[in-house]
Amino acid sequence: MVSSLFSSLRLAELTIPNRIFVSPMCQYSCEDRDGLATNWHLVHLGSRATGGSGIVLAEATAVAPDGRITPEDLGLWSNEHAEALRPTVEFIKSQGSIPGIQLSHAGRKASKTRPWEGGVPLQPSGGGWSVIAPSEVPWPYDEEPPKMRVMTETDIDRTVEQFRDAAEYALEAGFQIIELHAAHGYLLHEFLSPYTNRRDDKYGGSFENRIRFPMKVIKAVSEVWPAENPLMVRISATDWIEEGESWTLEQSVRLVQRFADAGVDLIDVSTGALDPVAQNIPQTGPNYQVPFGETIRKQADVAVGTVGGITSPQQADAIVRNERADAVIIGREHLRDPYFALHAAEELGVEDEIEWPDPYAYAV
Ligand SMILES: Cc1cc2nc3c(=O)[nH]c(=O)nc-3n(C[C@H](O)[C@H](O)[C@H](O)COP(=O)(O)O)c2cc1C
Repeated sequence: MVSSLFSSLRLAELTIPNRIFVSPMCQYSCEDRDGLATNWHLVHLGSRATGGSGIVLAEATAVAPDGRITPEDLGLWSNEHAEALRPTVEFIKSQGSIPGIQLSHAGRKASKTRPWEGGVPLQPSGGGWSVIAPSEVPWPYDEEPPKMRVMTETDIDRTVEQFRDAAEYALEAGFQIIELHAAHGYLLHEFLSPYTNRRDDKYGGSFENRIRFPMKVIKAVSEVWPAENPLMVRISATDWIEEGESWTLEQSVRLVQRFADAGVDLIDVSTGALDPVAQNIPQTGPNYQVPFGETIRKQADVAVGTVGGITSPQQADAIVRNERADAVIIGREHLRDPYFALHAAEELGVEDEIEWPDPYAYAV
């Protein structure tokens, strides 16, 4: 049977009501709250749940203070952080959507100002901190980068624990899905790619060594995350770096097979953002990353969510119907239109497959 955008999707023991997911998008909106969620998160994520998307994924959420991109990032390293997220999670569920959270550590891309403040490196005197990374490969800022420390094995073990603890806090907050962020040049991706991982210990060098830390994170998270709840991972399928060694689609296919064997239920396939030396990055036009997800889905036989340049209902529906992906993960179009899913059902002529919230019924 052909799946469509509004057919349900079974992931682990959960039934997702439709195949439209809200892509994780940093909001940098925890002003002076040290990573605690605010009303902004409730309204931002809550309105996308009201809009009918099957899964609402909260932004890259730091598992530790030094894993934040900016001081205003969302964090999840204490019971208090879990409590602050609970009203948002409960609201998402009340709308029939499934709440998920992306857990992340920003590695060498941490400690900077927000994009609308220039995204410039923050020094400790300005509220920044020293960053950790697999190897001494600083982000090539125009200004002086934050101080960098190469991770020891003790740091690696501690970070694995931080991911595990964050998964427990996510459960405590009521989230039903975790997505691990292993893309976009953040810490897990930095270990995967030989461009940023130049280690000569058991965490660097060969493919097996470079995947060791992300695999440990998955194992640790799986120990506390219930098997009935989906575990997803976002990867960058390629670094878009042609000169020298880098992360490629071929390695992604191998990695994803290992992730699936370790119990990952869906791979969210993005690309790039490892380093500005990247070349030949495609224009972020329609479906610009779909071919990567499609290849991974075929070759690795795992459920795939595809992201990037998906803006119209027909386009989204065609991706699912043609089995190019199991779900569409939509970012910027959800910023323009929180009710994308409701509007999509209307445009595709399948209004019966989704319900507007009762208080809005007069508008339909
Ligand atoms: C404002 C903004 C914040 C983002 N933050 C994150 C994030 O927290 N985690 C992540 O994996 N990707 C993040 N992204 C990337 C999006 O999730 C998405 O992959 C990208 O925008 C491409 O999809 P789109 O064309 O549908 O927007 C962000 C993108 C935007 C526009």
